[in-house]
Amino acid sequence: MPDAEAEARRDGESRSTVYIETYGCQMNLADSELIAGVLTRNGFRTVDDPGRADVVLLNTCAIREHAEQRVAQRVRHLIATRGAGGRVRIGLAGCMAQHHRERLLERIPGLDFVVGPDGYRRLPELLDSGAPDSEVRLDRRETYEGVAPVRGKGVRAWLTIMRGCNRFCTFCVVPYVRGRERSLPADVLVAEAHAIAAQGFREIVLLGQTVNAYHHEDCDFGDLLRRMNGVEGIDRIRFTSPHPADMDESTIEAMRECRKVSPYLHLPVQSGSDRILAAMDRGHTVAEYLDLVARLRRAVPALALSTDIIVGYPGETDDDFQATAALMERVNYDHAFLFKYSKRSGTRAEKLADTVDEDEKGRRLQQLIVAQELRAGRINRGLVGTRAEVLVESSAKRQPGWLAGKDPRFKTVVFEPDAATVGRIAHVRIESAGPHTLLGREVPAV
Ligand code: SAH
Ligand code: SF4
Ligand code: F3S
Repeated sequence: MPDAEAEARRDGESRSTVYIETYGCQMNLADSELIAGVLTRNGFRTVDDPGRADVVLLNTCAIREHAEQRVAQRVRHLIATRGAGGRVRIGLAGCMAQHHRERLLERIPGLDFVVGPDGYRRLPELLDSGAPDSEVRLDRRETYEGVAPVRGKGVRAWLTIMRGCNRFCTFCVVPYVRGRERSLPADVLVAEAHAIAAQGFREIVLLGQTVNAYHHEDCDFGDLLRRMNGVEGIDRIRFTSPHPADMDESTIEAMRECRKVSPYLHLPVQSGSDRILAAMDRGHTVAEYLDLVARLRRAVPALALSTDIIVGYPGETDDDFQATAALMERVNYDHAFLFKYSKRSGTRAEKLADTVDEDEKGRRLQQLIVAQELRAGRINRGLVGTRAEVLVESSAKRQPGWLAGKDPRFKTVVFEPDAATVGRIAHVRIESAGPHTLLGREVPAV
């Protein structure tokens, strides 16, 4: 009998143990906490070692082909090495599960269950079923209201405020695997934020695929930020990912006026070419995006910005690509997530010829990476000599005795502590900086 099972029998509470491994974005991390919530209230217990689990669940991503290949390899390995006399049930949840649905049960022999992002309430039944089974219906009303997530330890809690996406950007699989937009009631979310504060978290990250499209009855996203700002015990509020075309004055005004809302924004742009933005059906031009950035910076002068970029979208010429490089320089992003275009089945762009070959995509990506490193290094070196309020998260990985955390602009700060402890704010003087990290030492609060 595996130890976990023996322990479970001894404490007499847990029927079974489950191991959850999460891929993809923060929404998937939050969903894994909901999955853990559904399962623990049905008598399961989570464990952090697949070798000790009765159920192994991979919560998957479908955004690029590479993401799916990684999971396919991993699950095949888990199936091949399955312990406990083959009784361990292994399954796929999340976006890749929804993308390929029950076909996965045929393609991956030995896979026991497949469950999409709207099917988690049915997991206990799927796990009881004697045969391979799937739940891959999308449900326009499912918000998981009433399911208490099981959150990990740390200073930061995720809170999904809306699910799904209505935008259908031509390259993107998300609307097909996550379904249409739906928002949770503001009262429910504010109550959850109070619970999060009571659990000891200091930072809340509001999540949604188009998070600023949040809308419930007469509460819009800006209103929700204002209400979250009033939750005692929470020091910092962030949100991801906003869509530029949904960024309204109410939200910008809320960012300006709410002290706890971080001066940091992840604002995906994808391309700096109007031609490509139109082909992607992103719903805005380069000029509109730049105007939005200017309005945001007027409202929040210290604002740090990051973005997502796709290189090699079908039809992207060298001129289009150079326009992207120029836009990145002009906006002066603090950070960027850079991707090679990956054709996704079912999307509107699927039928378009992949005109930019892999080598060229690689070359374009590399040019942007190099420029972004230089840019981020330059921005961060400009912070040397300033003070930062760091929410301390952990010990530093490489500097023994030092601590690490984030400043309000979500920059990683590694510092030599004096009295600082994990979970609290430390005042740090920045003494040196690279493209990804600020280094410093703790100083007294002023
Ligand atoms: N909802 C978010 C994006 C979620 S997906 C938004 O609209 O901003 C995260 C990022 O993955 C996207 O911003 C995009 O840059 C990238 N991405 C999505 N589909 C992709 C594809 N088919 N190929 C390459 N990158 C992709
Ligand atoms: Fe995908 Fe566009 Fe929706 Fe973002 S807004 S999830 S990129 S379809
Ligand atoms: Fe991936 Fe699904 Fe997130 S496709 S990026 S895990 S919403």
